[in-house]
This record gives sequence, structure tokens and C-alpha cells, in this order.
Amino acid sequence: NKVVLAYSGGLDTSVIVPWLRENYGCEVVCFTADVGQGIKELEGLEQKAKASGACQLVVKDLKEEFVRDYIFPCLRAGAIYERKYLLGTSMARPVIAKAMVDVANEVGADAVAHGCTGKGNDQVRFELTFFALNPQLNVVAPWREWDITGREDAIEYAKKHNVPVPVTKKSIYSRDGNLWHISHEGDILEDPAVEPKKDIYLLTVDPEDAPNQPEYIKIGFVKGLPVSVNGKELSPATLLFELNQIGGRHGVGRIDMVENRLVGMKSRGVYETPGGTILFTAARELESLTLDRETMQVKDSLALKYAELVYAGRWFDPLRESMDAFMEKITETTTGSVNVKLYKGSIAVTSRESPYSLYRQDISSFESGDIYDQADAAGFIRLYGLPMRVRAMLEKGL
Ligand code: ARG
Ligand code: SIN
Repeated sequence: NKVVLAYSGGLDTSVIVPWLRENYGCEVVCFTADVGQGIKELEGLEQKAKASGACQLVVKDLKEEFVRDYIFPCLRAGAIYERKYLLGTSMARPVIAKAMVDVANEVGADAVAHGCTGKGNDQVRFELTFFALNPQLNVVAPWREWDITGREDAIEYAKKHNVPVPVTKKSIYSRDGNLWHISHEGDILEDPAVEPKKDIYLLTVDPEDAPNQPEYIKIGFVKGLPVSVNGKELSPATLLFELNQIGGRHGVGRIDMVENRLVGMKSRGVYETPGGTILFTAARELESLTLDRETMQVKDSLALKYAELVYAGRWFDPLRESMDAFMEKITETTTGSVNVKLYKGSIAVTSRESPYSLYRQDISSFESGDIYDQADAAGFIRLYGLPMRVRAMLEKGL
């Protein structure tokens, strides 16, 4: 038997390797996805995996696929969970889990394993993807089975099994990073009444320390998808990387929230999404030109459901796929550009343009025009307000 393990090289996943061999008697193929989390020394990672007892380490660069096929569709849909969360971790799980299913197929494994705890969302996202793409794979989730409870336990287990304990000091926070965001949870953040310390942030400078000069940037979109920064066309992953640098140095994109996990509990998280925040602001702005009132309302209402599905790990669900067909159609004219101004943590839209703009100055201007006849408004208002007049007549006995 062979199992493919989602492997990061940290203490937890390093300990899972000997644990799988001991408890399931299987060969362990470690798998690391590059989703832009900033993998340090790939070379060292392979040695580390093997030193833990893995027969092989497979690394796949998923950055472009992640941004193009997962992040950008969510952006186009306007998917935001519980008013704030831009879904950074939620979008990464299905692309990683899909790659694990592919690797299992390539190496002839009959099982997959992950290091998620039994209390979170991530376990659900991994496993729903495994179910959807290969229902025959066995799934092992050590955290739901073993009795290793803390860091000390894990170190002891590692030593007993001759697994080198990673030298990098583990952060007190539980973090998850990729090209879109980094999340911080745990430790002092578990008290929602406590302000995060300045040093927890990794992608953004403190807005107070950001430059005293604002920076203007222009984002170009074609059919609801970002294609350029300041007129320069970039691939999805490079575009996002570039916006992270720009947003990060101006302290843009910090989110501090309490969210409802799928498993029922509330949890406090701090997120940094610098490039993503710029893109969300710009995309939404462009739609103010290209969507009419009712179309925008329907799109926004579906975006809520879309975000819920993504948060809950239901990426490979026909409902999400069908909603994307709708989102693709409804953003057919979301083409154009938006200028924003970044300054000390804030992002302000300064202008927007589109060849498909429904805004017409000749109609909207306070200067009179001939398409819109002000005299028409009187009849419109009388009929639009008819139900109000009828109710008032009833109340006054008229
Ligand atoms: N609460 C966020 C989510 O559910 C972030 C999860 C972070 N995951 C992690 N393994 N640290 O999407
Ligand atoms: C975990 O519990 O493994 C991380 C947090 C989450 O999945 O929500």
C-alpha cells in the first residue's frame, strides 16, 4: 500500500510520515504543492521528507493554475464569506487536493492523508475534493486518530522514530499562506477582544509605517478577469504577485474577523490579502459601469451562495460549476480599467472606464439633453407610487 501525504516539512507533517508507516504499514509519498506560500529550499525539503521515512517527495508548481482556475473565478463572482473573508485558504484546498488525487494516480497509491485537525474547515475541503475526484481513495486524517496532543508530544514522537525535528522555530500562530493571502489564527488571537500584535503581520506593513506619499495604480480587466497592471499585461500569478508587493508596502488588505466555521464553532482569524483587496475593489467598481441595477442585485445575491460553497469545500460541485457559467455570462462586458489610490492602509477608487459602460453623460448630466425628458418623470412617479397613494387613501378613509 501507498499513501500520498500533503506535506509541508513542518513538525506536524514530519511526524505523520513515521506514524503512517507504523499504523498503516504503508509506503509514504510526500506531496508539496507550490501555491505561492514561499517554499524555502526545495532541495532541503526532499532530504527532510526522506529523513522522516518517506520513499519520495513530489513537488508541483500550481501557482498559475491556482490563480487562473480558482482565485480569478472567485474574484469574478465577487465571492466574500461573512462580509469580510476573501477565501484565501478555502480556494487553495481544492487545487492542492486535486493535485494529490493526480499524484496518487501517478504513483499507484490507494490512499491520501492530510495534517488538518478534526476541528477545522480544511479537513472538509480536502476530503470533499477527494470524494468528488476519486471516491475509491482511502482517506487518513492522523489528527482525528492519534493521541499526540501538543508540540511536546510531537517532538517526543519524532525523536523516538529518529525523525529530525525541524529546526525552524514553530510560530505560536497557526498560519496558512499562498499567493492570495496569509491567515493567522490561534494563541492570543483566540480572544476576540485582544488586538493583534504588530509583529504577526507578514505580507503588509503597518499602515502607520507606510509611505507618506500615495501610490496610484491602474488595473485592467477583460470579461471580469484582471489582465494588466499599469498597462502592463501579466500572467495571472505574476499579476497577483506584483499587486501583493504594491499593496503590501502600503499596508492594504488587513482583515480581522470572527467567522463561523463549517463544523459549527466560531473562530477568530486575521488575514492579509493585499493584492486581492485591490482586485476586489477594482472589479466591483468596474461593474458599477457595466451592470444595471437588477443584474447587479442578482449577481450579488448569488455571490453569497457561491462564497458559502467555496468556504465549505464544495468546489467540485455541479452547483458551483453552474454558478460559474452564470458568472461568466454576466461579466461578459466587465472589461475596462480602474484607477485606485493606495495610502496608509486605505484604497480609494479615483476613476473607472469601460468600452461597455452603460453610463452616458448625455443622459445623466445636469445640463439638459434630449434623450431624457424631465416631464416624463411626473407620470412615472405617479404610477410608481400608486400603491403608496392607495394605502394612504385607505388609512385616511378617502
Ligand atoms: N479560517 C480560514 C479558513 O477556514 C483559515 C484556515 C487556515 N488553515 C490553516 N491550516 N491554518 O479558510
Ligand atoms: C485546522 O484545523 O486544520 C486548521 C483550521 C481550519 O481548518 O479551519
